[in-house]
Amino acid sequence: MSKNVLILPGDGIGPEIVEQAKRVLTLVNDQYSLGLEFTEALVGGAAIDADGVPLPEATLEAAKKADAILLGAVGGPKWDTIPDFQIRPEKGLLGIRSSLGLFGNLRPAILYPQLAHASSLKPEIVSGLDILIVRELTGGIYFGQPRGVRVKEGGVREGYNTYVYDENEIRRIGRVAFEAARQRDKKLCSVDKANVLEVTVLWREIMEELAKEYPDVELSHMYVDNAAMQLVRAPKQFDVMVTGNMFGDILSDAAAMLTGSIGMLPSASLDVNGKGMYEPCHGSAPDIAGQGKANPLATILSVAMMLRYSLDEGDTADKIEAAVSQVLDQNLRTVDIMSDGMTAVTTAQMGDAVVAALKG
Ligand code: IPM
Ligand code: MG
Repeated sequence: MSKNVLILPGDGIGPEIVEQAKRVLTLVNDQYSLGLEFTEALVGGAAIDADGVPLPEATLEAAKKADAILLGAVGGPKWDTIPDFQIRPEKGLLGIRSSLGLFGNLRPAILYPQLAHASSLKPEIVSGLDILIVRELTGGIYFGQPRGVRVKEGGVREGYNTYVYDENEIRRIGRVAFEAARQRDKKLCSVDKANVLEVTVLWREIMEELAKEYPDVELSHMYVDNAAMQLVRAPKQFDVMVTGNMFGDILSDAAAMLTGSIGMLPSASLDVNGKGMYEPCHGSAPDIAGQGKANPLATILSVAMMLRYSLDEGDTADKIEAAVSQVLDQNLRTVDIMSDGMTAVTTAQMGDAVVAALKG
């Protein structure tokens, strides 16, 4: 039976990086007869321009029907000044995550040895780095109610959001993280702010409860401020990190930079059944959109994650990851990972190189 992959290019560099990732997916689909069919839809700013809303009904329907979703990126200054805060490109992305229940966000930060010199940290601090950040994606302060901007007595405006997690939400993301740790080095660091925020006191309690079910996994806890510091001080102490939506957003950007460039970091966002949306961790980078400067590797690596986690094609995923490693061995670099002695390539040339490596 054929499987449907929904492609959502989005905004900024989204369309150009997705184009390269789609070439890779189309190639392996033909090479290994995966039986994938593709549909495409609008999300984010592109959808606002066409339909007036960031997540048109047709896109949400297509997302619900799809077996997996590949997303580029959303957002840009063009849509930042729309007075209605609901009409923001980001709401399209958040709407898909929440409507599809994609609560489990996996963000692996792996340093390719070839890029040790592209990291802003010393090679000895990052070489061999392999961290998995497990971020809760459909709850926490991103979605908590009440939220808004209100006018207090005396006409003073006040903005407010609510940081809330119930124990079931904590438990299900905890399980994802413990299971992942079990497949890796069996070390899990739960990141919270339990010295200040009650919601994360509960978070810590539930993680402790879960730890009893996973005696083979060593659980530790860290406050988020310390975790941010440790990530840039001694990142190799981490194996799997689990945290809430907002802390995970911030820590995963920091972890990404350790690997040389945020342009290298893929992600998977999974529901309870393993259906998922796959996207690079970086944003839409409107400043470089359309110039052929964007690094398509994070999106190509997101395709590999899609094959592994949602399409049961782990071997094909391995081949794509090996092809990415091979193009780095060929010293090909987009600007974000460029260093002395390397060959600068455009977005499309990087795609060409991965396609050529896969063809062998
Ligand atoms: C991410 C992004 C999104 C987030 C934005 C675009 C809404 O930064 O996926 O990390 O904050 O989750
Ligand atoms: Mg982010």
